[in-house]
Amino acid sequence: MSHGPYHYLECISCRSQFKPTQIYSCPKCGDLLQIGYRYEALRPRFKRLLGKPGPHSVWRYRELLPVSARNAVTLGEGGTPLPRSTHLASDLGLREVYFKNEGQNPTGSFKDRGMTVAVTRAVEIGAKEVLCASTGNTSASMAAYAARAGLKATVLIPRGKIARGKLLQAVVHGARIRSVSGNFDKALAKARTLAASDELYLVNSLNPYRIEGQKTMAFEVWEQLGNVPDVAILPVGNAGNISAIWKGFWELNRLRMTDRTPRMVGVQAMGAAPIATAYTKRENEIIPWPHPETAASAIRIGAPASWKKALRAVRDSGGSMLTVSDQEILRAQRLLATREGIFAEPASSAAVAGLIKASRWKLIKGRESVVCVVTGHGLKDQESVGG
Ligand code: F0G
Repeated sequence: MSHGPYHYLECISCRSQFKPTQIYSCPKCGDLLQIGYRYEALRPRFKRLLGKPGPHSVWRYRELLPVSARNAVTLGEGGTPLPRSTHLASDLGLREVYFKNEGQNPTGSFKDRGMTVAVTRAVEIGAKEVLCASTGNTSASMAAYAARAGLKATVLIPRGKIARGKLLQAVVHGARIRSVSGNFDKALAKARTLAASDELYLVNSLNPYRIEGQKTMAFEVWEQLGNVPDVAILPVGNAGNISAIWKGFWELNRLRMTDRTPRMVGVQAMGAAPIATAYTKRENEIIPWPHPETAASAIRIGAPASWKKALRAVRDSGGSMLTVSDQEILRAQRLLATREGIFAEPASSAAVAGLIKASRWKLIKGRESVVCVVTGHGLKDQESVGG
């Protein structure tokens, strides 16, 4: 089927709607865009699709994706395990904790869910080259999907500030690497400038097509549990993923597949916490941090592009934002590895550290179900272990 009539771009602030073209922000007010659907028209098809047996994957949910599955550039993303906590939950006095192990995606992180859709979109619009700024995982993922699609790939990384394993992935997949002096925020600003040329297709999470792939994690969790959890907890950096997962849960509710939505709990590192600060101070805007610092290099971000979507996700869902120290992150990494058998990179371990804090602070009740999103594999960032 053609997806043309079913999806459109919509500004999250002024709500203007646009035909799907290669834009990354609202031409009227400059704010972020999201993808909207004619939900009532799509509901019967989506429902029928969900009744079907078959493996979980991003493309299982094609009726709610803004590209055609026939063109899919895929490496088999999604369909990740959701093991129930064996030890940590009982240590914390929680009955039902699950780890959504996104480290088991093709390039070892959740980014693959978004990238399969963004690179498919790049092919659909006839782009020849894709571009991103990255703290490591986005570049690893983009490089792999670009290779698969036969597109050129350029990644902008903050010099000396990304884990070696992630850089290696981008190099092995044949991406052109440009290292930028300064931090991720500077690299992203540069990428946005470069993307002003039509030749380059920007696949950072301010591209709403990427968000659409990432939202499928919510659909998958819902199918795996037979319901939505009470709480979803995850690390926050540039804030695309919390926005995406919230959109997925929101759409399930909008399609009347579920009558409730989880509380979204976002976790930032104490040294890179502009969104958590705005949340705590009940501000409606963030103040960017010029010098973000944390051992969790993936979320070392001071000016998150999707902060507005993230604040809305947390507030609309009745959730919260927390911060954790590097010591708490590295301790959680070890706990997850030694008590649950899951090796997560530091940014992902921040979610586990957040879970520990949230349960101690009684933000989660003992009988509630919690999904903790383990965003990336520990093997990617070997130098941080034991740090
Ligand atoms: N966890 C991991 C492992 C990540 O790589 C990232 C982001 C996040 C969490 C946070 O997700 O940015 O959507 O809030 N990594 C990006 C990158 C920034 O370039 O790889 P977010």
